[in-house]
Amino acid sequence: MDKNLYSEHLATLKSRYDDILEQCGFETLNVFSGKPSVQFLDDNYYPFRVNPQFKALVPVTDNPHSWVIYRRGQKPKLLFYRPVDFWHYVPPAPQTFWSDEYDIELLSKPADAKQFLSADNAAFLGETNGLEDWSVGTPNPEELLARLHWARAYKTPYEMACLREANRIAVKAHRAAEAAFREGASEFEINLAYLNAAGQGENQMPYGNIVGLNEHAAILHYTHLNTARLPEAERRSFLIDAGADCNGYCADITRSYAYRDGEYAELVAAMDEKEQELVAGLKPGTPYPDLHLECHHKVGELLNRFGVIKSSAESAVESGLTRPFMPHGLGHFLGLQVHDVGGHQTAPEGGITPPPEQYPFLRTSRTVEENQVFTIEPGLYFIDSLLADLKNSDLASEVNWDKVDALRPFGGVRIEDNVIVHKDRIENMTRDCYAQ
Ligand code: GLY
Ligand code: MN
Ligand code: MN
Repeated sequence: MDKNLYSEHLATLKSRYDDILEQCGFETLNVFSGKPSVQFLDDNYYPFRVNPQFKALVPVTDNPHSWVIYRRGQKPKLLFYRPVDFWHYVPPAPQTFWSDEYDIELLSKPADAKQFLSADNAAFLGETNGLEDWSVGTPNPEELLARLHWARAYKTPYEMACLREANRIAVKAHRAAEAAFREGASEFEINLAYLNAAGQGENQMPYGNIVGLNEHAAILHYTHLNTARLPEAERRSFLIDAGADCNGYCADITRSYAYRDGEYAELVAAMDEKEQELVAGLKPGTPYPDLHLECHHKVGELLNRFGVIKSSAESAVESGLTRPFMPHGLGHFLGLQVHDVGGHQTAPEGGITPPPEQYPFLRTSRTVEENQVFTIEPGLYFIDSLLADLKNSDLASEVNWDKVDALRPFGGVRIEDNVIVHKDRIENMTRDCYAQ
């Protein structure tokens, strides 16, 4: 990564952090990377996931027991954990594109951090577990966190470069996964092909990869990874929702594939078109929930066009008939976390604006602005539990159940891209990578 790009990024962060600390009445921010948690009645650890507030400052995602000490107006200090340890890998002292920006102190024991930390006018960001007797400042002050979360929605050029690179890695891996599917691999094998092409392990993935064949495409967060290969005659559909990491930034991409031509293949192609229309609607000033509603209209059109429902798109949205077919939100903020923070936040200082009552799972109630990064991920699924409820409802007569039964074995379809909103254009990072 380019050193100057990071340097400019940190300058932007410093100005944000200085303002926010002043607004919240603090001088110092002590940010802990976190530490691995031991498994119950065991001596092994759960996979380590870094505190997002730590990786927001320094692109280190895999080194527990480290700290950033940020003092208003000063060069930040990084306490970087480097134990003498013959059991585990110990990372070298950082010497890379970001390391000149920090005063780096190496810690050989976790408790060595105490000599550098002070609670004077300080806030602490991180999990307090195990630090109860440390002097680190006010833990996770609500307004401070709200202001940091709000600011994180506006990505810097460095962050955009990281997100583009995460997309490049993920698209390469999605291509390998599609090839494995076409060769008849199992879900488990497809996932291995994905990870191998990404060059990242499953604990580096931003979320558990969703790799579903046939009916499994209807399970929104299906992460089971069946090891069985399907005989060719039984191969119908494949939905993969999988990302990648670059310097702690996430990709979150979904593709759906038909094994052979036919109605499901047409549905995938039609959804792909609708998804691109929705991406084009992502403009500064648009309330994201409006776009979500637009998405339901498009899902209604598809349901009607493919003969799944008798109602027009309009009346299907009105009656709620589209909802069992697309129960999740159109998309969400994307960044250091796959569902990046602040999607429901009302103002920099806090407050929550819930999504519309009919769409409780929509993660974004904010108005779209320049430099924000979103996913756009319309879907249409045949989910047994939701269809059973629909069959018992007043809307049952609006559904062609034979058509539902014909499409049910394909599970569903979702197409998901990662998009940057610029002042006068939309950048679809995912499609740009597919075009290369
Ligand atoms: N991969 C989870 C999501 O798309 O939100
Ligand atoms: Mn996804
Ligand atoms: Mn997503």
